[in-house]
Amino acid sequence: MTTNSRGAPLLAAQNVCRTFGHGPDMLRAVDRVSFSIQPGEIVAIVGESGSGKSTLARLLLRLLDPTGGQILLHGQDVTKLHRNNELKIYWQKVQGAFQDSFAAFNQFYSVRRSLDRALNVLDVRLTSSERKQRVFNSLREVGLEPDILAKLPHQLSGGQLQRVMIARALVTGPELLIADEPTSMLDASLRVTVLNLLMDLRKRHNMSILFITHDLGQANYLSDRILVMYRGEIVEQGPVAQVLESPQHEYTQRLLADVPRLHGKAHVLNV
Ligand SMILES: Nc1ncnc2c1ncn2[C@@H]1O[C@H](COP(=O)(O)OP(=O)(O)OP(=O)(O)O)[C@@H](O)[C@H]1O
Ligand SMILES: [Mg+2]
Repeated sequence: MTTNSRGAPLLAAQNVCRTFGHGPDMLRAVDRVSFSIQPGEIVAIVGESGSGKSTLARLLLRLLDPTGGQILLHGQDVTKLHRNNELKIYWQKVQGAFQDSFAAFNQFYSVRRSLDRALNVLDVRLTSSERKQRVFNSLREVGLEPDILAKLPHQLSGGQLQRVMIARALVTGPELLIADEPTSMLDASLRVTVLNLLMDLRKRHNMSILFITHDLGQANYLSDRILVMYRGEIVEQGPVAQVLESPQHEYTQRLLADVPRLHGKAHVLNV
């Protein structure tokens, strides 16, 4: 991962597979998934529960090994990286945020300690004041005040915790954020706040975002492109307007049919 292949996408998945179990019980949780994401692009992955979205997120974050296929960062194959010290370089550039922010934190660690520990994947040695500055900057990026640093996870609201999780992902200065249903445990107004925050991050840092959701409204609000997952496979992909206005695959048509209708039009423009 020392040289960049010019013109290669930021991240590419090529025939990525993940099975669980063996023999007749084998489940193809992720099946020959191929797509790429460019710098500054927001791509949504939509699909019903159990379609393989979180498994794909964990594969792309290299938290789970694929059983087939390749993952490339700037054209470089990262599938063969296994040891934590090899993957550190990857995790500087590709970070994750998850649905259940409470479970994602050590309950005994203050916000300061959790954010500071996230800096350990950087291979440069930072002084303690540089570390503090990074943590402080990340908090500011997500609109939180420094007084939150001393608090424990249970002392925070769901919306604050979700923003702290995004701040934790930002401390390494990632090029790609993989956000797996980051808003599904939040109420409607906080949901929009977090979506707007993600859009701001893209604007400010040209950060790419892979946004996983089962909500077509949120995919429509936030993303440039949509990938539709069904039973482990990507069955359709394209620009948002194209997928939502003229879905080609029967499953996408069914997903859209489930969206509440207002005056005969699918009500997907709102979050
Ligand atoms: N560690 C595991 N062992 C066995 N099966 C697993 C494992 N992780 C996921 N699965 C199975 O893989 C399939 C895909 O699960 P996954 O969590 O990726 O779906 P999802 O699209 O994220 O669903 P949801 O919308 O409910 O979050 C499911 O059938 C799930 O039971
Ligand atoms: Mg999931």
